[in-house]
Amino acid sequence: MEKLIDLISRRVSQAFEAAGLEASLGKVTVSNRPDLCEYQCNGAMPAAKQAHRPPLELAQAVAEQLEGETMFARVEAVKPGFLNLTLDPGYLRDYVAQMAQAPSFGLEPEAQPKTIVMDYGGPNVAKPLHVGHLRSAIIGESVKRIARYFGNRVIGDIHLGDWGLQMGLIIEELRERQPELPYFDPTFTGAYPAEAPFTIAELEEIYPTASAKSKVDEAFASRAHDATYKLQHGDRGYRAIWEHIMRISKADLQRNYEKLDVHFDLWLGESDAQADIPPMLEAMKARGIVTESEGALVVEVQQPEDTKEVPPCILVKSDGASLYATTDLATLVQRMRDFTPDKVLYVTDKRQALHFEQVFRAARKGGIVPEGVELQHLGYGTMNGKDGKPFKTREGGVMRLERLISEVTDYVRRKITENQVVDEGDVEETAQRIALAALKYGDLSNQPTKDYIFDMERFAAFEGNTGPYILYTIVRIKSILAKYGAAVDSAALLPSESKEAKDLMLTLTRFSDSLRAAYQDNAPNDICAYVYDLAGVANKFYHETRILAEPDAARKAGYVALMDLTRRVLETSIDLLGFSAPERM
Ligand code: ARG
Repeated sequence: MEKLIDLISRRVSQAFEAAGLEASLGKVTVSNRPDLCEYQCNGAMPAAKQAHRPPLELAQAVAEQLEGETMFARVEAVKPGFLNLTLDPGYLRDYVAQMAQAPSFGLEPEAQPKTIVMDYGGPNVAKPLHVGHLRSAIIGESVKRIARYFGNRVIGDIHLGDWGLQMGLIIEELRERQPELPYFDPTFTGAYPAEAPFTIAELEEIYPTASAKSKVDEAFASRAHDATYKLQHGDRGYRAIWEHIMRISKADLQRNYEKLDVHFDLWLGESDAQADIPPMLEAMKARGIVTESEGALVVEVQQPEDTKEVPPCILVKSDGASLYATTDLATLVQRMRDFTPDKVLYVTDKRQALHFEQVFRAARKGGIVPEGVELQHLGYGTMNGKDGKPFKTREGGVMRLERLISEVTDYVRRKITENQVVDEGDVEETAQRIALAALKYGDLSNQPTKDYIFDMERFAAFEGNTGPYILYTIVRIKSILAKYGAAVDSAALLPSESKEAKDLMLTLTRFSDSLRAAYQDNAPNDICAYVYDLAGVANKFYHETRILAEPDAARKAGYVALMDLTRRVLETSIDLLGFSAPERM
């Protein structure tokens, strides 16, 4: 469907033309004086400059051309030369009714859908999932859903950190604790046990212990390095331990992401890219772009127009080890081969911006990714505590994601138990939904690149610009619809008779504008701002209108239809943000 504002602009442009003025000056914007009108056009000012005539006169000439136009209830030319436009309620009603019936509420999907690989989540196997990874999951999931809503094929890959030093540390620590295990016996040729020699709880303890030890015990650290090297070069026993670690950790991660309502199509990791590294290196060398620098193999990526230094992208360290960038390049080889994407989008902490700049440039130079394929890094800011420093537990440790979720859920559970509107059997599920809304909305309502302060009381409040407030609005509408009892028909919508009804309708028409903005800029915060506005006007309408008590059946059906469309738009929007509403709260 053509956007309402474009329809209006088109009509006003025609009027400019009919008045002998340039059509392009008829562009209309949402009024910045909503007390006076709904839309405005300032085109008579520049027109006056061109024509050397008073702007008010020109505005009046345009207004005359719009006389009798059914789109508007009122067109006024006001000093010094503005056109103030007020929509006709019948016209608006028809537009909204059409929107209610159209797929995606009339939003125009991408004319040429793209294939997009999205790399988000990025947890490191065997290390506990912490809040640093929370933002990648929350933002990435929303950006993915938005891109899909526009008709794109989006493939979400978790890109596990599963090939690093943490594996060597765990293996080495395990060897100190249980040297008798067959994995450490080089003469062992049998089948290794199917059961892992540790549980997830033990694994979660082994890694931090080993990591701390490696910082004070140099010999241990060097043995862990050797173990990592051996693992990466095919040691059978170490590989078997690695597989245990992977299986156990993945199951745990799956459970965590499930709780967050975050879903990946691919569970690939750094380890999956390893086979592509040697041929990739050969191909890059053959292109003559690999140089040696202090024993390392690098690709120079500095460009003449750079204003600051961009260090070379290191492919192979002097000790022969490959790096984070090497793996990312090889992963691009795999992604181009498997999906021939139009775009690859990475969602990580913004402190990795330079890394991605280097990788992208090296990928272009190396012929891995052609110019026509877009490479984009969406870097996000830090989630801070109330002290303005990166979020920690009360004891000062790194906050584990699971604990964060359960703290928010506990807090919400207490609240809804006090309110006593939720049936006992539904308390748990309801608390989880509200907690997720609090957590996700609290994050997504900020621009991704900005740091923000995590404040549970504020995020979980039922009033204000919060996820629970949006849910509360939806729940309230659902309860009206349930009480209404009869089927809702969007054709029953009536032209607005009150300011509140009209504001609600006008806000509904802005759905696709807000979505498009969110889509173009990878900015779910635009959707948050929109749902907050929409919830606000919906609540005003609800307060000012006797909906179910309305004696006139047609009017009542019209009100209910308006409420139902509002609910559908709100529920669609929050689904794109990655959460959903309960039945009651
Ligand atoms: N595992 C990385 C980290 O914890 C994030 C991975 C992001 N994706 C990528 N392709 N580099 O920082």
